[in-house]
Amino acid sequence: MAKKTLDDMNFKNQRVLVRVDFNVPMAKDGSGKIMDDARIRAALPTINYLMDQGAKVILLSHLGRPKGEPSEAFSLAPVASHLSSLLGQEVLFAASDRVVDDEVAKKLAGLEAGHVALLQNTRFRAEEKKNDPDFAKDLAALGDLFVNDAFGTCHRAHASNVGLASLLPSCLGRLVQKEVEVMGKALDNPARPFVAILGGAKVSDKIGVIENLLDKVDTILIGGGMAYTFLKSQGLEIGTSLLEEDKIDLARDLLKQAREKGVQFLLPLDGVIADQVAEGQETKVVKIDQIPSDKMSLDIGPETAKLFAEAVKDAGTVVWNGPMGVFEMEDFAQGTFAVAKALAECPGVTIVGGGDSASAVEKAGYKDKITHVSTGGGASLEFLEGKVLPGIAAISDR
Ligand code: 3PG
Repeated sequence: MAKKTLDDMNFKNQRVLVRVDFNVPMAKDGSGKIMDDARIRAALPTINYLMDQGAKVILLSHLGRPKGEPSEAFSLAPVASHLSSLLGQEVLFAASDRVVDDEVAKKLAGLEAGHVALLQNTRFRAEEKKNDPDFAKDLAALGDLFVNDAFGTCHRAHASNVGLASLLPSCLGRLVQKEVEVMGKALDNPARPFVAILGGAKVSDKIGVIENLLDKVDTILIGGGMAYTFLKSQGLEIGTSLLEEDKIDLARDLLKQAREKGVQFLLPLDGVIADQVAEGQETKVVKIDQIPSDKMSLDIGPETAKLFAEAVKDAGTVVWNGPMGVFEMEDFAQGTFAVAKALAECPGVTIVGGGDSASAVEKAGYKDKITHVSTGGGASLEFLEGKVLPGIAAISDR
């Protein structure tokens, strides 16, 4: 059933609690420097709309995994000041180690229409992840309406999303609406050919996605560490490349299912080999059936990159999740960047989901050429698996 959106609500003079996902990467030196503000920017359309509508905007987010107790390292203070500069207006940082208490309520009582406040990291309270009803009730008392714009957290059932949606009239924000519309259309009614590119280290992380996509796509391209378990299942020697022994039978079965369903399933033709996962070693490109027993393949080779680019070239829809190699290291990043380039050049609908592929696209400078780069890591994966995301399910129906 369709969920309510911002267009279905009247926000004038209302206190609007907005769950955003400001879980952004911070510099490891404790300086509070935000390394990538894409998630903050992605929430701006909703925040600006609510300000224009004359709402009193109260933002809630988690940051990292602070174990249910206050921790300076996970404070949202740097986010509050960064958001102030993005909005060109001072954001009221109503911070308490308890997230919500009388002091916070008092501060928020002074918030004017068209202005924005941010609460402290919701995960400073253990009750957040337990979707504790009393914590949700205390948060709900701060607002009249609830907007969920935190797509990255929609696969979690926490107090600040599911709990609040059960207590206040609610709707989806612009970001969640866009994520669901673009990815939902790709899954339900894709322009064809529909090509999926899956990578990343483990088959086990992608089983659900592969199974769901096998009924929908025309072609699946597999790269990354997970490719070697598939290759092994076909009797190839993969040297010391990443292998999930206990997933070999499953990989063989998925390939069989693909054949039965008429889905083209392409595995790497060549790889970039080295002694170990480290930079500055001697590397070599070899055919995929020529990996020496003491070497590991850490990226797809140029022939594979060409094959994958060719498959993507005329696609109507492409969904990409997971890098093709150890792309954090320059020596093994070429395959992932080649795929990013192929997506950027594809005239069809292109969707990138998952933290690593999204950061590869950004790093390669292709972000603006992709139809949709999802802000969700785990959430976009679960969406592609066809799962119901609790954060969305809890929102009021139209
Ligand atoms: C993410 O980064 O994927 C989301 O913010 C969710 O974070 P979590 O995995 O810590 O719940």
